[in-house]
Formats: sequence, structure tokens, C-alpha cells
Amino acid sequence: MAIAIRQLHPCFVGEVSGVDLGKPLASDEVAQLQAGIDHYGVLVFHGQDITDEQQLAFALNFGEREKARGGTVTKREDYRLSTGLNDVSNLGKDGKPLPADHRSHLFNLGNCLWHSDSSFRPIPAKYSILSARVVNPKGGNTEFADMRAAYDALDDEIRGEIEDLVCEHSLMYSRGALGFLDYSEEEKRMFKPVRQRLVRTHPAHGRKSLYLSSHAGAVSGMSVPEGRLLLRDLTEHATQPRFVYVHRWTLHDLVMWDNRQTMHRVRRYDQSQPRDMRRATVAGTEPTVAQQAAE
Ligand code: OGA
Ligand code: MN
Repeated sequence: MAIAIRQLHPCFVGEVSGVDLGKPLASDEVAQLQAGIDHYGVLVFHGQDITDEQQLAFALNFGEREKARGGTVTKREDYRLSTGLNDVSNLGKDGKPLPADHRSHLFNLGNCLWHSDSSFRPIPAKYSILSARVVNPKGGNTEFADMRAAYDALDDEIRGEIEDLVCEHSLMYSRGALGFLDYSEEEKRMFKPVRQRLVRTHPAHGRKSLYLSSHAGAVSGMSVPEGRLLLRDLTEHATQPRFVYVHRWTLHDLVMWDNRQTMHRVRRYDQSQPRDMRRATVAGTEPTVAQQAAE
């Protein structure tokens, strides 16, 4: 069966049919999906009942795996998954929903804020590949915003103002916005802010994107309040309904997105019921700000 991609939103998002992600892909299939993710920014696949190993093998068609360390407050010995996937579920090691006051749960609520994955790393993530293993009965849609369309819709004056701006990103900013403020010394070192351009150019097609994320908490050369106001205004602009696709999950959906040209967030859901989502993350290949490379 041949791969076909149908556009789901006026700006972006392709729904892919004609592929079984549980099997190794032929090189022309990888090339078609590569062109698809470059063009659409988000690809939606249905009916992909795959194992963690198959999900990782699929991810490795598009680059190297990004390691989970540095992106969570959950200690390695408390990981539920030992397969190398990022655990984006609300479950503990015992397979049950985490208690409402559990530190990992409170930290993970930060995924409800608009973000781009790993923008808090010196070399941020390229692709995220999220598989729905248990769908929550209430809420839990994932929303995606097209940062190219959002950039294109800015007027020339603001484009000129922001072209060369650099922001500081840290997990402590996104979590801090929800009032999660207590970190160990080790976590503070791990979550040390990194610098990222505010406008980035996509290497495949050359379109510019707003590189926003709730992890951004300061703009270099601006006072903190002035910088945060600018980031808020841009985020409000970039997440208007006309730029947003809402994904309503069904079991065994798999969604792949390009973090260099989209943002996403998960909506609140019933935390007393399981939601098992597992993510394979494809590492980025270069920093967005040259001097970051030296660190
Ligand atoms: C992620 C993420 C959203 C979701 O996997 O990076 O933000 O729907 N997940 O769980
Ligand atoms: Mn995310």
C-alpha cells in the first residue's frame, strides 16, 4: 500500500495512511515521511499498535535519539519505562495514576503550557513521536500551533524588532509559571538556563518560525518584565485558533511533530484515570545560537 498524506488544517498537519510503523520502512517511505514532516510540521498516524522498541526503531529513521536526562525531576530508579522512551503518562512505577500531590505529577503538569520540546537544552529536540497506549476518558487533547504561519502573520515592524533576539529557556521558568518553585541544588544545575534564538529558519525549506516555548523566561538585553511581556504577546498571537490544530486521541494514534516549527500543549484531563502516552524524541543537530556550542 502506498503512503498518502491528507492535510487536516488550513496551515499545517498531515494525516498519513498506507504505512505500518511496526515494520522496518523502505528508504522511499522514509523519504516521503521526511518530506511530509518538513512540509506539514505535524504528521498524524492512526491504528499503530506498536511496542516501545518499534517506536524507537521508527524514530531512528530520522536521526539520533535524545536522552531523557535533564528533562524531569523523576529519579532514574523511579522510571516506569526502561526502554528509553520518555514517559509522558500520569502513571507511577506501579502502573497507577500518581497521587495528586506527587512531585513528578506536579512537575509534569507543565506540559499543559504551550512549549517546544527540550527548548531548555543547548541543542533542542528535532522531532517528537508520541504514541497513545491508554487514552484518558476525559480531556487530554493535544493542541499544536504552527509557528511558521504565526511568524508570517506578524507585521514588518515587529519582525524587524525580534529578528536577532535571543531568549533564555529553562524548565524552572515553565514550572515556575505554575508555582512549582522548589528544586534541589542538583536540579538547579541541571535546569540552568540556555540561550535560544527567538526566530529560527528551517533548514529544509527556509521558512522562518517563531521559536517560542513556556520554558522561555527572559530576553537577552531586556529587563525581565519587558522580555516576558513580549514573549506573552507573541505567544498570544501565535496560539490563536487559526494557527491551532486540536488532536483528539484514539487508541494507538501516533503523532510526530517538528519542534523547530511548532508548539504544543496537552489540555487538562481526569488525573484519577490512566493516560499512557510514550514519546520517542529525535535529537536536534545544532544549537540555535552559535556560542552555545562551546558549552
Ligand atoms: C510531549 C507532550 C503532550 C501530551 O510528549 O512532549 O508535551 O499530550 N505531550 O501528553
Ligand atoms: Mn512536549
